[in-house]
Amino acid sequence: MRIGILNSGGDCPGLNAVIYGVVGAAAKLGWEVIGFRDGFEGLLPPGDYIMLEPEKMAGILKQGGTILGTTNKGHFAAKVGEGNVAEIPQDIIEKAKATLKLLEIRALIVVGGDGSLTTGMQLMRNGLPVVGVPKTIDNDLAATAMTFGFDSAVSTVVDALDRLHTTADSHKRVMVVEVMGRNAGWIALWGGIAGGAHVILIPEIEFNFENVANAIRQREAQGLHSTMIVVAEGAHLPGGDAVTKEKSASSEHRLGGIGDYVAAKVAEMTGKETRSCTLGHLQRGGSPTALDRLLGARFGVKAVKLIEEAKYGHMVSYQAYHVDSVPIEEAVSACRLVEPDSEVVQTARAVGISFGDK
Ligand code: F6P
Repeated sequence: MRIGILNSGGDCPGLNAVIYGVVGAAAKLGWEVIGFRDGFEGLLPPGDYIMLEPEKMAGILKQGGTILGTTNKGHFAAKVGEGNVAEIPQDIIEKAKATLKLLEIRALIVVGGDGSLTTGMQLMRNGLPVVGVPKTIDNDLAATAMTFGFDSAVSTVVDALDRLHTTADSHKRVMVVEVMGRNAGWIALWGGIAGGAHVILIPEIEFNFENVANAIRQREAQGLHSTMIVVAEGAHLPGGDAVTKEKSASSEHRLGGIGDYVAAKVAEMTGKETRSCTLGHLQRGGSPTALDRLLGARFGVKAVKLIEEAKYGHMVSYQAYHVDSVPIEEAVSACRLVEPDSEVVQTARAVGISFGDK
């Protein structure tokens, strides 16, 4: 028995832990695992792959990125523009099927976000047995309470805020920190609270600049001369949209730039010296936290179990401290957003954090 695995979409810490889990669990069953390089692109004939031998897996747990490579572009991109779904051309699907047949692969594990899992579903509908492992640093898939990579990203944000506080304090400045979070503000919310932010701006809570400026002025009045603002890249400008760096017809638009925008605006309104810092891909790189290594390995082991049980079309899912599974179809359709009245938002408000909405 031979199975395949690929990573698709943006990388995130913990991907290698999934591979580690898959290869270990498969070896126990006497199965071989083939890893396809660069996402679904590795499925194109003649196939770009490596044999994942269990004895070679030692040491990958702590490695960031993915040993297989990944891409969020190419022939298999199912999410384009602003969340639109594209059908993968039939000839491309046939080519992928031919490679898997040639390599005698019984089932394919797709580790990816909603776009990649949508591609996985299209392959499944075309007769390929697919099992999904959710991957999103933004932690915004409704079907799983948590995804690996998120904890590492939050840790990076907290580390950055710890450093930025000292320079902001020294100069009595406002510091605006732009973090990842395309549709959901989880990284900004968790990282912001844990890192002692004073203002958090997220896509789910409409803000206006007067409220943000007031939060800074109130701190000034209390003798607190530095203010830390964390803004999710996907936060919407008042009455507008997210700030886009580059529009794309073949993949999702690239977001970015709201940090600079917010910094310029609050400097103008408050007269405070303001700097902005975009954490960008620092949040995606580096060694995964212990939690992400564990979650990744558990997801990998569960994916093998799903194949053993022939639960194709299912995706691994984390619910109430337990790794379970859900149909991929259900999973990709719903985004898990921050609820503006949730307990964690209330916690932030209770400790004096402003969301710029009042
Ligand atoms: O969706 C995950 C994410 O990390 C977003 O937060 C971000 O907008 C995007 O990926 C960046 O992707 P890329 O690697 O293409 O720059």
